[in-house]
Amino acid sequence: MGKIFTFLFLTLLSNLIISSAQDCSTYSFTNNAIYATCVTLPVQNSHLHWNYHSANGTADIAYRHTGVSTSQWVAWALNVGGSGMVGAQALVALPNSNGSVQAYTSDVTSYSTSLQQSPLSFQVPAIRAERVNGDVVIYATLVLPSGRTSFNQVWQSGPVSNGAPGAHNLGSENRNSVGTVDFVTGQAGAGGGVGGSLLHRRNTHGVLNAVSWGILMPMGAMFARYLKVFKVAHPAWFYIHIACQVTAYGVGVAGWATGLKLGSDSKTLKYTTHRNIGITLFALGTLQVFALLLRPKPDNKYRKYWNIYHAGVGYTVIALAITNVYKGLDILDPEKKWKHAYTGVLISLAAIAVILEAFTWFIVLKRKKEDKQQGPVGTGAYGSNGYGNGHGHSQAA
Ligand code: HEM
Ligand SMILES: *[C@@H]1O[C@H](CO)[C@@H](O)[C@H](O)[C@H]1NC(C)=O
Ligand SMILES: *[C@@H]1O[C@H](CO)[C@@H](O)[C@H](O)[C@H]1NC(C)=O
Repeated sequence: MGKIFTFLFLTLLSNLIISSAQDCSTYSFTNNAIYATCVTLPVQNSHLHWNYHSANGTADIAYRHTGVSTSQWVAWALNVGGSGMVGAQALVALPNSNGSVQAYTSDVTSYSTSLQQSPLSFQVPAIRAERVNGDVVIYATLVLPSGRTSFNQVWQSGPVSNGAPGAHNLGSENRNSVGTVDFVTGQAGAGGGVGGSLLHRRNTHGVLNAVSWGILMPMGAMFARYLKVFKVAHPAWFYIHIACQVTAYGVGVAGWATGLKLGSDSKTLKYTTHRNIGITLFALGTLQVFALLLRPKPDNKYRKYWNIYHAGVGYTVIALAITNVYKGLDILDPEKKWKHAYTGVLISLAAIAVILEAFTWFIVLKRKKEDKQQGPVGTGAYGSNGYGNGHGHSQAA
């Protein structure tokens, strides 16, 4: 069983590592152009590649938006005088009816724009776009205004109706496609919204908490409940359980701290449910760890109540943890695959739990029967199924 858990855990971990290692610098363009710098933008599967020429203050850029359907426009813009969409000096790529894409510039002056072609506040001596393998790439040369090299940037994609750009969605991917870009240092960072580093911190927070509270803790509970029934697993189950929960708690506290920091950094108090559940979780989790020290001896008459309390708080923590992981995933609104991955892990754990639950009852009943045959004094010490009478703990205590 340990193997199954290890497998699940490693699968999840390798998934995380692979998807964060995808690199924009290995992409080869159709015209074999080489760009010295590239950044992967934090949302909307987009990359910005460029060469900056300090001699004349120009930048050759390639904006690559991946996974674009043939009925979508894409755009990338510098916002020279402000931030966000209004004021964006946009490079737009619009699909033609014949399957090619046409590129033009549009000065976005309001939220009710329809992205008409218009000159920008700076010169764009060259612009074109192409569609390759589901990506749309806009190539352009920008004469960066008034000696500046650092700007706010925005990028977007939306539907095409009757050959013209239509309003894009307003989901979190569409609202968070803002940030900064520095053509000299190659840094792209957080802008008015959730840019690079804030997004990174939110992701870290999510991964730490999902793995600790959301996966390790339920696994630790399962070790306690189901390993206990195997005679050979005494007293190992107890130490595995403790190791699992203490690790989960340690990582969980780190995750919790990152959450507190995120909360205190945000100007407005949002996500109160997520926050309150998080605080409750931390309190109950801490109680669980310290309650270990107050655990009565196995033969103490109050031990029974301690066991009930311990299991009760334990299951409450797990239920709250799972709820809060989903709440967090809704706030972060990452690609659907992350929610699916977490749901997949939970379903696997639940399936294992159902099988082991049945198996446990089978063993317990079988032992009861054997005990009856042997005589009135039962030795069902290993029959405890987790809530029970603490015989299991007695081995290790
Ligand atoms: C068909 C043209 C477009 C329409 C009708 C449109 C409409 C809107 C609307 C109504 C909002 C929400 C404002 C609010 O929060 O109340 C918005 C936000 C936003 N739009 Fe657009 N948009 C268009 C094109 C673009 C383009 C070309 C870009 C980028 C190159 C862009 C980037 C953004 C961004 C980043 C936000 C969120 C940040 C902000 O509010 O400034 N949009 N858009
Ligand atoms: C700017 O300088 C670069 C390299 O020095 C050159 O290749 C490019 O053509 C120049 N661009 C303009 C618009 O003058
Ligand atoms: C596609 O149509 C546009 C105008 O709608 C035209 O400029 C372009 O040359 C056409 N491209 C091809 C490959 O036919």
